[in-house]
Amino acid sequence: MVLTTPMDRAQGRARQSSDPVRWLKPLLFGLALLPLALMGWDTVSGGLGANPIESLIRRNGDWALRFLLLTLTITPLRELSGWSGAIRLRRMIGLFAFFYATLHLAGYVVLEQFFDWPAMGADLLKRPYITLGMGCFLLLLPLAITSTNGMIRRLGGRRWRALHRLIYPAALLAVAHYFLLVKADLREPILYGALLALLLGYRLVRALPGRHSAAG
Ligand code: HEM
Repeated sequence: MVLTTPMDRAQGRARQSSDPVRWLKPLLFGLALLPLALMGWDTVSGGLGANPIESLIRRNGDWALRFLLLTLTITPLRELSGWSGAIRLRRMIGLFAFFYATLHLAGYVVLEQFFDWPAMGADLLKRPYITLGMGCFLLLLPLAITSTNGMIRRLGGRRWRALHRLIYPAALLAVAHYFLLVKADLREPILYGALLALLLGYRLVRALPGRHSAAG
């Protein structure tokens, strides 16, 4: 049995109130909704340019990829800074990646293809970048579904962690998707590819034999 004294409880409360995650989480939540708000504003104010549907699809795709890479930044941030609270932001950031990926897919299915399933099937077979995008989305889906505490308990930590390693192939597919769809200016996909290489390289180096792994 664990006995807690009023002093323990007071110290616990003090620790909680100085915990930066308590204010960082709502702040990050608000910031993560800003791209959506801006897209909404641009939609009603006519600020989406000459091809509003393409612009919406592209902007949601960009944010899905950015949040995916941000999710992968949390472990190095935690390990290099020693700030263990970072890990408590990871689930929310990962779910925002899935949220924007879903809006991106919905834009394609609803706005661009008008639910034309045969045309989308043909696209999936004919255009490799669509195949890779769909592959990425299908890898992200089980991660989002199993992100709740109940699912973590049900799967057990080891199996849950093994499943969530799908984020690595998902991120590779997302970057490959971007590379394949760009026709001329490769600068942005190269930038995202370099960031991903850095994040995966960090994990590879850390996993080398003889190195202590603190990864969760
Ligand atoms: C679910 C299946 C997916 C489909 C059908 C799909 C489809 C598309 C389409 C049609 C475009 C625009 C191409 C163009 O205008 O020429 C696009 C762009 C893009 N998609 Fe996807 N996508 C999918 C999944 C994803 C996922 C999961 C991510 C990221 C996690 C992603 C990230 C991107 C990015 C970064 C762009 C480029 C945006 C830009 O040009 O600025 N896509 N996608």
